[in-house]
Amino acid sequence: MDYQRLIAQAMKAKESAYVPYSRFRVGAALLTKSGRIFTGCNVENASYSATNCAERTAVFKAVSEGEREFTAIVVNGDNGDYLPPCGICRQVLAEFCDMETFQVILANSPDDYQVVTLDKLFPGAFLAENLTSGNQHKMSNSVYKD
Ligand code: THU
Repeated sequence: MDYQRLIAQAMKAKESAYVPYSRFRVGAALLTKSGRIFTGCNVENASYSATNCAERTAVFKAVSEGEREFTAIVVNGDNGDYLPPCGICRQVLAEFCDMETFQVILANSPDDYQVVTLDKLFPGAFLAENLTSGNQHKMSNSVYKD
């Protein structure tokens, strides 16, 4: 996969970050299975908990435009290092993405990044299948297996 273009778009999206409180900008670029790219930035709020992370902004933009199948997301922050998605964003990604194949690209720059699948970042995720009682034997997440 050509990560460089996706990384460049995440870095560009970061420029739109609304961060008057943390001053910490984050950009994301989400690739759909159909080949479209949705970008996002973090949008903060005076009521801090109303803040939306860059990753969720990208996912919600995509879903609101009819896309539900994704292959990868780039995350780029102002920390000068790889920036892992927060727990809430991992949960949102898990709702739509295949845990074993969806790629999370932690990008410091177009030439400096790490790629990790969602199951490695988020083992033991609470998924839709967990809403059904008595289906423990069907649970696919490896942390629950012997
Ligand atoms: N933030 C993101 O946008 N994505 C993450 O995965 C980590 C945190 C934002 C939220 C907040 O605006 C700022 O970074 C500091 O937590």
